[in-house]
Amino acid sequence: MNQLLNLIPILTKGLESVTSIGEILTADDIEEDNGKRILTSMNGDYDFKDVTYRYPDNTDPAVLNLNLHVNAGETVAFVGESGAGKSTILNLLVGFGQPSEGEIYIDGQPLSEISLRSYRKFLAVVPQNTILFSGSVRENILYGTTGVTEEKFKDVLKKSGLESVIKNLPNGADTMVGEHGDKLSGGQKQRISIARALIRDPKVLILDEATSALDAVSEKEVSETLDSLGNSCTTFIVAHRLSTVRRADRIIVMKEGKMIETGTFDELLKRNGAFQEMIMAGAGD
Ligand SMILES: Nc1ncnc2c1ncn2[C@@H]1O[C@H](COP(=O)(O)OP(=O)(O)OP(=O)(O)O)[C@@H](O)[C@H]1O
Ligand SMILES: [Mg+2]
Repeated sequence: MNQLLNLIPILTKGLESVTSIGEILTADDIEEDNGKRILTSMNGDYDFKDVTYRYPDNTDPAVLNLNLHVNAGETVAFVGESGAGKSTILNLLVGFGQPSEGEIYIDGQPLSEISLRSYRKFLAVVPQNTILFSGSVRENILYGTTGVTEEKFKDVLKKSGLESVIKNLPNGADTMVGEHGDKLSGGQKQRISIARALIRDPKVLILDEATSALDAVSEKEVSETLDSLGNSCTTFIVAHRLSTVRRADRIIVMKEGKMIETGTFDELLKRNGAFQEMIMAGAGD
């Protein structure tokens, strides 16, 4: 059981691509760390240089010639139609798959030369669908961490919008949730997932926003959470909601693996291009 719990941090990093525990256990990168540079600190500056990615069984590239520089602390939102390559970019960021061509640089160092295990300690991933295990809210947030003070725990509950949720649970943060516990809404689970991320003081937050509608209250709280992070960490979001893209420092519009527009919300609206069309079509509502 403990071994299974230990897999959860890896599992929750799986975004959409990892479908089974078996896949993680056989993932090359877990063994291929030998001899690679260990990352002991990180600023969170990213540089994509001519990055192309082709899935093995797919002739069309999922990402084509992506060039993108992201400053430490910046919040970048990827938008675009289904199949545009958004989740693929997030997977590349996490190190699930290496670019077929080009390179991703972290603080100027090629990601391919860095030990992924050491790199991932600086990342926190909020997947589209949060997996809660059978245990308390507290355990679900703290697993894998040691020595987190009660003060910090409370601060994270606040930042992730969980305070009000916990107030309404029979045993507060010690209420059992997950498989055999209280049923939580999608938005509440996502907030637990955000709390899991924040408790680790990540340098990089990677968030694949759920397409399913969060209720208005949790949507507001989640976007406030993103605000409260400020630029303490570099944030990459696949965004569907208007409230999220509006808060991003930069929006990247993807189409067929290519970056077709980039700018702030206001800049893109003025451009009368693909982004404006998406907004008109109701994307992000
Ligand atoms: N495991 C895979 N094997 C082969 N092709 C894949 C795989 N995953 C994705 N693709 C293809 O790569 C392209 C980009 O997919 P990706 O999942 O990155 O899109 P997306 O922008 O995240 O879409 P969505 O909004 O639907 O989540 C698509 O054409 C998709 O069919
Ligand atoms: Mg996707």
